[in-house]
Amino acid sequence: MKTTVFGNLPDGREAHQYTLSNGAGVTVQIINYGATITSLSVPDRNGKMADVVLGYDSIDGYISGTAYLGAIVGRYGNRIGKGQFQLDGKQYRLTINDGENHLHGGKIGFDKVLWDAKILGDSCIQLQYVSRDGEEGYPGTVTLKVTYTLTEKNELRVDYDGATDQPTILNPTQHSYFNLSGSFNKTILDHLLMIEADGFTPVDKGLITTGQIAGVANTPMDFRTPMAIGAHINDPDEQLAFGKGYDHNWVLKGTAGRVRKVAELYEEASGRLMTVFTDQPGLQFYSGNFLDGSAKGKNGIAYQRRTGLCLEAQAFPDTPNKPQFPPVTLRPGQTYRQTTIYQFSTQ
Ligand code: GLA
Repeated sequence: MKTTVFGNLPDGREAHQYTLSNGAGVTVQIINYGATITSLSVPDRNGKMADVVLGYDSIDGYISGTAYLGAIVGRYGNRIGKGQFQLDGKQYRLTINDGENHLHGGKIGFDKVLWDAKILGDSCIQLQYVSRDGEEGYPGTVTLKVTYTLTEKNELRVDYDGATDQPTILNPTQHSYFNLSGSFNKTILDHLLMIEADGFTPVDKGLITTGQIAGVANTPMDFRTPMAIGAHINDPDEQLAFGKGYDHNWVLKGTAGRVRKVAELYEEASGRLMTVFTDQPGLQFYSGNFLDGSAKGKNGIAYQRRTGLCLEAQAFPDTPNKPQFPPVTLRPGQTYRQTTIYQFSTQ
């Protein structure tokens, strides 16, 4: 595995970049800052490689960036209403960093810290971060390991393993923005998306889940068969208005805890197909609505609205305040596990 210095943090520590590659010529680059995927090059139907994830050229982009490009977010991916929750009868207050709510772990979430890296093989790297008791308001010291493996089947596999020394909540996710065309000045509106879900979790105007599960049938949320992302994104629909586009959690079919196929993303011009597998109960599909051209990405390209989309495997947003949702509590002696796989092929 190739290791290079990616840049220095303001306190002088070095961030490293690791390049994973396989026999098919697929390469994935990961930095230990935020356990972030910085590039992912996969072939089109003619074998031409292109990078299909948004990112920055330098560490400074990742340090100042506010869009979580490619990072592992946590402790809690997505929002916790008013940044408050109760656990075992005790009230906790988290950092408020999104309107009146808590988003993606707070001001200094898992995306804004340096992880320890351990090379486990030619195309396998493990990153570990120890999040101290009280960090961003969360109880307990949590040790999270994220292992990235690139397989010979053109799969990028992400395995999570977490433990705590006090009862807490844990719900990390991968926040890569994909654009399978490899051209980041094009939007993702022509990509076809399929999500294996009959329902989604509606939100209020602050993007906090209401606690209900709504059917996708006869709504713009119906991705049960492949649909262009742009087909209904501008429909007059309250949920789309709240999200400024798609920014919702789909309730995945099948048994949570078992890895199953949950989504497919296809870009016709290149023929690139990405299939997502996970053992998580939910998938947040975010259509890059808040990208606004203010951040200059790789090769100096400013990322405009909807030039990338995220498919974040996770527990449902605001679960700590929604006892009817699948639980996110982690207790001493228990192990948090997640496996999510992004598989690349062409059609
Ligand atoms: C998530 C959220 C969005 C937004 C992005 C980052 O996907 O659901 O609302 O915060 O992350 O900009």
